[in-house]
Amino acid sequence: MERGELDEALAEEIRARVLGEGFMKIVQTVRRNGKTFRISMRPVSIGGVTRYQAEMVDDGQVCVKNLDANGAAEGLEEIIAQRGVRDLHLMTAKGDLHVRVTKKGHVMATRSAEMDRVASVQPHDRVKKTPLASFDATALLRVLGIADGEGNIRASMRGKYDQVNEFLKVVEDVLKNEKPEDKARPFTVVDCGCGKAYLTQALYFHLTRSLGFANVRVVGVDRRADVVDAAKKMSVQLDVVDKVLFACADLATFDLPAFLTACGQDAAPVNAATMVVSLHACDTATDEALARGVEWKARYIVSAPCCQHELQKVLGKSAGANAAARSFAGVLRHGILRERLCDILTDTFRAQILRILGFRTQVVEFVSPDATARNILLRAEYGVKPGQNGAVSEYLDLRDFWKVTPWLETRLGDTLSRYLERYE
Ligand SMILES: C[S@@+](CC[C@H](N)C(=O)[O-])C[C@H]1O[C@@H](n2cnc3c(N)ncnc32)[C@H](O)[C@@H]1O
Repeated sequence: MERGELDEALAEEIRARVLGEGFMKIVQTVRRNGKTFRISMRPVSIGGVTRYQAEMVDDGQVCVKNLDANGAAEGLEEIIAQRGVRDLHLMTAKGDLHVRVTKKGHVMATRSAEMDRVASVQPHDRVKKTPLASFDATALLRVLGIADGEGNIRASMRGKYDQVNEFLKVVEDVLKNEKPEDKARPFTVVDCGCGKAYLTQALYFHLTRSLGFANVRVVGVDRRADVVDAAKKMSVQLDVVDKVLFACADLATFDLPAFLTACGQDAAPVNAATMVVSLHACDTATDEALARGVEWKARYIVSAPCCQHELQKVLGKSAGANAAARSFAGVLRHGILRERLCDILTDTFRAQILRILGFRTQVVEFVSPDATARNILLRAEYGVKPGQNGAVSEYLDLRDFWKVTPWLETRLGDTLSRYLERYE
């Protein structure tokens, strides 16, 4: 037997604890040439199926693999076969095993007293504080750069962490009536203007690890090649390349079914997207996200708008000719008040347009205004008859009062105008 090698009895005990009942977690830290390599493995529930999540951290670089039972057994052999100074900690429901291999190659094993812990891979059994704490999100947060190597949320990323958590809470609430059979069906989410993919990745993990959706794919779309390249690398690191996909494209021209087909995925042309989301997609990119949600026949649209300039330009300019704007001259004179008024009007028009098109729509505050001034969120679920008189007349009354044509109305063209014509 080589120095530092585990004897067969100890190796067999480790196999029995990991591959038997009540396995919770194994972590091994190896120190070599001043560098630290850490590998951990734990059971996770992915869409209701038990898998083993292996997380490798090599000198700060994180990589995750989701393994089946055979893959886990192979991974375990690699852990057992490691050489050098190392610490191994193995937790099962019945107790812990610690193995320490010293510089001189001495192997020391200690065992805790027998315990009676609950080893559950069901994420719902955990205490649910926030969505990103309702499953083991350590690797996800590290790869996203939201958490540091120790798993602590970086101070500079706290705002984004909170935004994503709050957004996920809304998604969770929107989906609360989905039945188990719905959760087994294909569920495609498109994140419009995904940027660095914090929300995109978090959505996939929350839907599959916490909410029990078994057949999810998430597509992030952004026109910036650098962020899309970085996001694709994250999918490799997190072992979700076939599940979390990224397209470098302009939202206006992005062809979702063609993209899915090119990725070797089933395009499901009748209902290309189940849910469309956007988080702070700048200016009219939010309108574009809503329009794509309508065109892709999304059942759900969840969108937190960003800055909005379109109406400001129009109301700023036409104040002289527009009676409503003249009455509001005292508001429109002040930049900050004009901005807020235009934001409110823009989001109202957006919500009204979705209502006209058959979506039950709510406008809510999703994070505290201390976190971001962009804290409004539109949540919409398709399911009522489009073109209802009440929704149409409320929209037209407001639009005609202000004598403006909202960008989204122009963008949706005939899809919307055929309902407006009925009233006029
Ligand atoms: C403020 S960032 C938000 C990113 C991300 N959703 C988040 O919350 O971290 C807005 C993103 O939208 C993208 N974007 C804006 N207009 C777009 C368009 N027309 N098509 C695709 N992406 C767009 C930008 O490139 C940018 O990455």
